[in-house]
Amino acid sequence: MFSGKDALDNFAATIIKEQIEAHSASVLGLATGSTPLGLYDRLQQMHRHGLDFSGVTTFNLDEYLGLSGDHPASYRHYMQEHLFAGINVPKSNIHIPDGTANDVEAECAAYEKAIMAAGGIDIQVTGIGHNGHIGFNEPGTEFGCTTHVVTLDESTRQANARFFDNSLEQVPRQAVTMGIKTIMQARKILLLASGKDKAEAVAGALEGSVTTRLPASVLQLHPRVVVLLDEAAAAGLAHDNPMVKHLA
Ligand code: GLP
Repeated sequence: MFSGKDALDNFAATIIKEQIEAHSASVLGLATGSTPLGLYDRLQQMHRHGLDFSGVTTFNLDEYLGLSGDHPASYRHYMQEHLFAGINVPKSNIHIPDGTANDVEAECAAYEKAIMAAGGIDIQVTGIGHNGHIGFNEPGTEFGCTTHVVTLDESTRQANARFFDNSLEQVPRQAVTMGIKTIMQARKILLLASGKDKAEAVAGALEGSVTTRLPASVLQLHPRVVVLLDEAAAAGLAHDNPMVKHLA
């Protein structure tokens, strides 16, 4: 029996497992934040029970500008700690934007090229920010943009201060993120959200108009999106939506 967030984590992990079992050389797009922690936990368990990631390639959505991979709040550090240390994706198959690149524009272009060279992303996992951001694509971001440098909204920096000893000052002001176009090019997208603080953004994204003011609303235009919500995150939805799997 599953309940609440557990059901979501298990369902998401099963989708990824089935993808890898069907295609051992799958390309996964990965996200950070609190939301995917349970999913990553399950994937590590599945690996202990035999799920083989040795052919898998990964691309993370984003990274803070100026943080090296050994900074405890960097997304590279997060990924190592919460997923990669417990599965067998070869190091050379792991891609996370380099927040310390000297030429960050070249880094963005190289990131796009690497995704293409890998054959594109099979499943992109994403959470959603309180302001509807996906990756670090803040409200106002053009839907046509590819991997680029962004200036973080104050609300995003505040929400993420918890990863920086609750010190807003320590939260970088900029980040590198896959663009909306990059995300939309994934063959399948898995949007995960839990908790009542996400209900408004989720409802706007799924039931509101498609607008750059709420970046996640672009997902309405993608043909293969699976939205996994717990009851609290689904609380603002007025209609049944074919994209949404309700997991009690
Ligand atoms: C961060 C990340 C996003 C993530 C979002 C929500 O800003 N860049 O990729 O989806 O916040 O995070 P959480 O899951 O912790 O609520």
